[in-house]
Amino acid sequence: MTRKILVTSALPYANGAIHLGHLVEYIQTDIWVRFQKMRGNECWYVCADDTHGTPIMLRAEKEGITPEELIARVHGEHSRDFAGFHVAFDNYYSTHSDETRFFANDIYGKLQAARLIEVRSIEQFFDPVKQMFLPDRFIKGECPKCGALDQYGDSCESCGAAYAPTDLKNPVSAVSGAKPELKSSDHYFFKLSDPRCQAFLRQWTQGEDRLQTEASNKLQEWLGTPGENKLTDWDISRDAPYFGFEIPGAPGKYFYVWLDAPIGYMGSFKNLCARKNLDFDEYWKQDSKTELYHFIGKDILYFHALFWPAELEHAGYRTPTKVFAHGFLTVDGSKMSKSRGTFITAESYLQQGLNPEWLRYYFAAKLNGTMEDIDLNLDDFVARVNSDLIGKYINIASRCAGFITKRFDGKLAKVERNSIVEEMAGAAETIAQCYEARDFARAVREIMALADKANVFIANAKPWEVAKQEGKDELLHSICTEGLAMFRLLSLYLKPILPKLVQRAEEFLNVAPLHWQDAGFQLPVHHLINPYEHLMQRIDPKLTEALVAANRESLAPAADSHSQQRHAEHQQHTENVVQAETSPWEPFISIDDFSKVDLRIARIADAKHVEGADKLIQLTLDVGNGETRNVFAGIKSAYDPATLVGRLTVMVANLAPRKMKFGMSEGMVLAASDTDGKTPGLFLLSPDSGAQPGMRVK
Ligand code: 2FM
Ligand code: ZN
Repeated sequence: MTRKILVTSALPYANGAIHLGHLVEYIQTDIWVRFQKMRGNECWYVCADDTHGTPIMLRAEKEGITPEELIARVHGEHSRDFAGFHVAFDNYYSTHSDETRFFANDIYGKLQAARLIEVRSIEQFFDPVKQMFLPDRFIKGECPKCGALDQYGDSCESCGAAYAPTDLKNPVSAVSGAKPELKSSDHYFFKLSDPRCQAFLRQWTQGEDRLQTEASNKLQEWLGTPGENKLTDWDISRDAPYFGFEIPGAPGKYFYVWLDAPIGYMGSFKNLCARKNLDFDEYWKQDSKTELYHFIGKDILYFHALFWPAELEHAGYRTPTKVFAHGFLTVDGSKMSKSRGTFITAESYLQQGLNPEWLRYYFAAKLNGTMEDIDLNLDDFVARVNSDLIGKYINIASRCAGFITKRFDGKLAKVERNSIVEEMAGAAETIAQCYEARDFARAVREIMALADKANVFIANAKPWEVAKQEGKDELLHSICTEGLAMFRLLSLYLKPILPKLVQRAEEFLNVAPLHWQDAGFQLPVHHLINPYEHLMQRIDPKLTEALVAANRESLAPAADSHSQQRHAEHQQHTENVVQAETSPWEPFISIDDFSKVDLRIARIADAKHVEGADKLIQLTLDVGNGETRNVFAGIKSAYDPATLVGRLTVMVANLAPRKMKFGMSEGMVLAASDTDGKTPGLFLLSPDSGAQPGMRVK
């Protein structure tokens, strides 16, 4: 039966660029949606820019434009970036829309009627110059715990303490520099602590495999044991001036982000319904038979698994079928960092000439459907894409296609019974299950294991040798036809991940767009293929180096605007969400890491030129107790060996011995150099006088 499925990704804030961290989610969702469509399901993928809030209002003001102008520009940039990575939304809309306003008002009205909205007066910092209440992130002062200067109103970047803005010492407004004043004002609250919400959420969060195990455990922690009432009421309003929707019947009060951002999912879908003639209610009414899935980052789980379903349930709408949370992206094992150049924007990736499908493939190979963080290791990225996509997949077509075109007028032979082709076709359901469960990493492993078998088949059949032999045309024809039958099946299985590459493969194979059920069919005898053109380039490692260089900022690192806004807006219940770095010295190592390095004083007992080596000097190091070490040091440009004999220096004594062209090197001496190249030269370290060979340096 055809399933009817509505899928969303989290709405990105309209005040920052899309970066590779965002793309993990959009690529993950897009792969899943493309898979569902290939299965023949009716699947709609909607998203929108999250356009409201104080940071957007202030940024527009700073740029001297209206918020509407700002969000229109960013909408263009975001749409361009998503299209560049082949993220194919059925609708990419905006929360600043009539549809979203309609549902925000509607849901609010229904919650009010259900007596789940309450007005309370709260005291907050107010900027007397700007005449506005200040979000925590717009207040700075001294940390109440460690005294560090210039810390934000919600947490200290120096000692990590979290606190209320009123705890800051000497607070100032980051907007005007004025001293903020405490002022009270009425705020609107959604009563999440109401027994009806508690009871509903206890049942909902446990039901029908709605959440991943890790997420469901987290939810139990937030909900507490059945007797407890740990959920607090949710502040859903902000005071003017604010860029957003004014609350009906509450002049000067605006819906805060969580009462319009997720509602943007409905707004975007409603807008799509009008264009595609779809029945909105069929998807959103309380007893809907359709499926609704939200793909999100783990930092907004609280909102999507508590606040949002409670809001929908009590306003008379259906609730999500499942919520899928993913982890964060690290690059080369660390948080993305502007100073290291690993805070990579989608735009720069494309501008540097990298192929978006390389990244789609790499992310797919790492995404396993859990909330674990995933790492983009740039060396591994190059190696993996080159070996899997070029070396294994594309290789099959490039080895077989030429013969079909040149020797058989582009026509295929009959596909004979071939155990590999049959095994490949038989894997369709297993691979489909991996995609369905969002275990793309496993899908990729299964597909590449099949590609390995195809390559073994070709390597054994050696079409390039058969081609030279008289009277072996039929054999050659059948080897190449079978090779291409394997290539076709691999293309089908990879299509959700590599839509453009496979589209070109379809054109080359001269077939209609592949659907999952096509795995059960073969191309007919005499099917005509098109001449093969190279389908994908290898990644040159220089490209990733240039990418990092293009994203490196020499200025002090600023927090990423996305996580910055998250800070500004989320206030409560967000866990360590900041993906941007806090220090250019990261990643830090522990003292245990450091103590693994055995540094020793060494006396240079002998130093010689090394024949045939431009950079090396061979050192004999006395490391105490009559022991000597042979070390080849790359310091020839700076030292004459004769001047080194007798002097003391520092060496790494426990570096694994390394076999070099000139002999074994049994350690390393330490020298300083200027990484920027401003002060050329090398400067060998020396201890103060009195140090003896063999002494430990710590
Ligand atoms: O956290 C965020 O990125 C917000 N812009 C909200 C995204 S999810 C949503 F729209 F519900
Ligand atoms: Zn502190």
